[in-house]
Amino acid sequence: MIRSPMAFALRAMNRLFTPEKPLTFFGHEAMIKLADLMMRSGSKRPLIVTNSFLLQNGMLDTLLAFLKQEGCDVSVFEDIVPNPTFAVVGAGISAIRTGQCDSVFAVGGGSAIDAAKVMAAASTNKKSLQKLAGILKVRQTPLPLYVVATTSGTGSEVTTAAVISDTTTHKKNFFVDPKYLPIAAAFDTDILTSLPGPMTAGTGMDALTHAIESFTSLARTPATERDAATAVRLIVEFLPIAYRDPENARAREMVALGSFLAGYAFTRTSLGYVHAISHQISAHYNTPHGLANAVLLPRVLRFNEKACGDRFATLERVLTQDSNPGEAAQQASAFIHRIDALADSVGIPALLEDVQQSDFAAIARDALAEARSSYAVPKKMRKSDVATILDSVVTGNRSVHFG
Ligand SMILES: [Fe+2]
Repeated sequence: MIRSPMAFALRAMNRLFTPEKPLTFFGHEAMIKLADLMMRSGSKRPLIVTNSFLLQNGMLDTLLAFLKQEGCDVSVFEDIVPNPTFAVVGAGISAIRTGQCDSVFAVGGGSAIDAAKVMAAASTNKKSLQKLAGILKVRQTPLPLYVVATTSGTGSEVTTAAVISDTTTHKKNFFVDPKYLPIAAAFDTDILTSLPGPMTAGTGMDALTHAIESFTSLARTPATERDAATAVRLIVEFLPIAYRDPENARAREMVALGSFLAGYAFTRTSLGYVHAISHQISAHYNTPHGLANAVLLPRVLRFNEKACGDRFATLERVLTQDSNPGEAAQQASAFIHRIDALADSVGIPALLEDVQQSDFAAIARDALAEARSSYAVPKKMRKSDVATILDSVVTGNRSVHFG
C-alpha cells in the first residue's frame, strides 16, 4: 500500500498521533449550547471572531444577548475577510490583549476559523506570526478555542491546520500543529439555513472533494476510509436537497455532518490534485475555493479513473447500497457521471472564465510542487496533464481524456 514517502510520513504520523474529534453540537441553537459549554469550562472573557456581514445581519444577536445575560465580558472582532492576512490576525491578537480575553469564539467559515486558530495560539506563544508559521511550532497551549462553522465545507473546525496569507510575499502560509484543533464546534441550523445557494453549492462540493481525495489517498486507514465514505454518502444525498430547499434543517445538518467527517478524514490523510491545482487558481484569480474545486473535481476524477477504479467502484456501491461486487470499471464510470450530475444539480459551471492559457505553466509548476510536498496521491501527474485539465476548464469540457 505505501508507495510514496508522503504516504509513509502521514501514516507514521497517524500512528503516533490521531487528532481527537472535537466535541460537536448540531441543530437548533447549537451555537448557544457551545457558548454555554465555553462558559461552564471557565471562560468569561471571550473574543468573538467573525465578519461584519454576520454581525450586521443580526446572526450573532442571540449569542451576544445570551453571553451578556450570563455575565460574560465580551469583545468582538468583526474584521475577518476571505483569505485572511497576517495583518488581520495581528489585529485580532491586539484585540485579545486589549480585552484581556481568556478564550476565542469564532463564528464564520474557514477564514474566520483559520484566523481564530492562529490568534489563539499566537497570543500565548511569544513568537512573530512568521516564526509561528510551519509545522509543529506551537509550544504553549493556545487560548481555548470554540468555533461555530457557518458554512458546510471547509472542515477547518476539525483540522489541525490554518492557512494565512502574507501580503508581502504573496504566499499562503500553512500553520500545522495538533494544538490548533478547537476544543468544541457547533453547526447551528438557524445560521446554516440562511447560507446562499452558490455558497451552499461551493462549500458542499469542497467537502465532497475532501472526502474523495481522502478516500483515494495512499495514506488512508480503515478509520479514515469509513469517515470519508460516510461523508460522500451524506453529501451526495443531502447537498441537492439543501440547495433546492435552503430552509430544510435536516438536509443542512446532514451536509454539515458530512463536511465534518470529511474534514476529520483529510486531516489524517491529506488531500490531492484537485486542491493542489485549485489553490494556484485561487491565488492567480481569487476564485472562491469551493467553486475552483467543484469545477476541477470531475476532471481529476477522470485522470484517476484507471488508478482508482476500485476506489470509485466502492463509493458507487456505498451510494447504491449494492453489495453485489459487479463490474468495477462500470461502477467507477457510473460514480464519475454521478458527480457530474451532482455538480449540475447545484449549479456548478462547466468552466472558469478567468483562467488564462498564459498562466498554465506557472499553475502546473506550483500545483505539482504542492502535491509533491504535501499529498499522498494515488497517481502522479505530469505538467502536461495539468495543462490538459486547465485547457478543459477553459473550454468547459468536463469529459476530458488523458493519454
Ligand atoms: Fe478544500
